[in-house]
Amino acid sequence: MNRITIAIDGYSSCGKSTLAKQLAKELGYTFVDSGAMYRAVALYAMQNGCFNHHELNENCLVNKLDEIAIQFTFNASRGASDILLNGKNVENEIRQMDVSNKVSQVAAVKEVRKKLVAIQQEMGRNKGVVMDGRDIGTVVFPHAELKIFMTARPEVRAARRYAELETKGEPSTLEEVRKNLETRDNIDTTRKEDPLKQAEDAIVLDNSGLSQDEQLSLALNWVSKLT
Ligand code: CDP
Repeated sequence: MNRITIAIDGYSSCGKSTLAKQLAKELGYTFVDSGAMYRAVALYAMQNGCFNHHELNENCLVNKLDEIAIQFTFNASRGASDILLNGKNVENEIRQMDVSNKVSQVAAVKEVRKKLVAIQQEMGRNKGVVMDGRDIGTVVFPHAELKIFMTARPEVRAARRYAELETKGEPSTLEEVRKNLETRDNIDTTRKEDPLKQAEDAIVLDNSGLSQDEQLSLALNWVSKLT
């Protein structure tokens, strides 16, 4: 079986990482959560004085980009990789609402994207990778053999993310989560640099009414036709 590249893009919190993780496990591929990388850069900006209240000082961040090292380390208990920011495991911290509220401003900065896209392309150089994000099928791997564009109804997405945060004991309200998803989708789809959009050759997967097993078997079926 030849190894392919799988690009999964779509709106905030529609289950891209869940599907990407499942596929990587089934196929023995590497899973890369590109959103975690943008979240880690946002965390660095927050911790290093590049936010004035809620507003990002772009020059401050761009001047500090060379200080930021991003790596992944496999966490056997989770069965997935944790992200390291300058050697520190920040996997939990980057999922907090204050990071979610700032990450899309950071992800709109051209220099940030240039740095992270280069790392992502290097990680996928040997194929056998499933990467999820916003620009994977359009910018990072425009020649990916399989491109999936995921979506789900906004109320389904908000309910899922709220439940996930609740399980982790992260303070938030359903309304706050709903607003965050709406704001991020708006920034992500309208930004100048690599906006979120469906690649022309992507397959649309609306998982509003699908179980995790159902979405996995659909995607595995698409993979089997390509390998
Ligand atoms: O998991 P969730 O859908 O909440 O988002 P994420 O994948 O963790 O991504 C967080 C944010 O990073 C997104 O809202 C985008 O602003 C940005 N992002 C991006 O611009 N490009 C990517 N390839 C991945 C994420």
